[in-house]
Amino acid sequence: MTDTRGGQDAERPGPTEWGAGRVGVGPWDEEHPGEPVPEDPRFDPTLLAEGDRRNVVDAYRYLTREAIVADIDTRRHPLHVAIENFENDANIGTVVRTANAFAVDTVHIVGRRRWNRRGAMVTDRYQHLLHHPDVDTLLAWAQARDITVVAVDNTPGSVPLETARLPERCLLLFGQEGPGITEAARRGAVMTCSIAQFGSTRSINAGVAAGIAMHRWVTQHADLERAW
Ligand SMILES: C[S@@+](CC[C@H](N)C(=O)[O-])C[C@H]1O[C@@H](n2cnc3c(N)ncnc32)[C@H](O)[C@@H]1O
Repeated sequence: MTDTRGGQDAERPGPTEWGAGRVGVGPWDEEHPGEPVPEDPRFDPTLLAEGDRRNVVDAYRYLTREAIVADIDTRRHPLHVAIENFENDANIGTVVRTANAFAVDTVHIVGRRRWNRRGAMVTDRYQHLLHHPDVDTLLAWAQARDITVVAVDNTPGSVPLETARLPERCLLLFGQEGPGITEAARRGAVMTCSIAQFGSTRSINAGVAAGIAMHRWVTQHADLERAW
């Protein structure tokens, strides 16, 4: 087996069944012939009987949604992500999916309550989400919990994300396609970080920017030994 995970033990199972060429597992009896069906209440009887084809890591196979959320809750990072949603931004689903992958504490939707769930690929089921009607409410929420707000946009006065030291208790705040981050968000943040660009486009997709920024936090603060 080729080790593509930066020198980690190549024998460790990966997060999905890529090698097996399919997604998920079949019924328990087929996958574990002769083994008793688990009686642990964290296992879902329907998934045990019919198989589990959900987009979840192997460690969570056959577990109820509640059991999965409870386990992620023991692994969540002190990282929050907020995205402004005054025009129903289509990128929020992508942000939620990536936030789930990085065990972000909570994704905050600022502005309109409704958001396009398509890109989330049902990861919103496992992710804490909180709605705030406006930026001021979000900022007050963060301040009350001693969470430092960092805006992310390539506006004048921003500092390079590539060299910035992000706070550990951090809320990364993103703007929308088109208008970008609001003035209220920029003023309420301790700093605004920009992602270096080298081509012709003024900006990158907000969902992509969120992924880059979240991963920057991961490289500075996450315990990589706990990654799947
Ligand atoms: C598509 S951008 C639009 C705004 C952008 N300021 C402009 O002038 O075109 C939408 C959001 O994606 C994020 N974003 C896009 N490119 C970025 C970059 N190079 N650096 C930091 N954030 C970026 C920001 O959160 C921004 O508010």
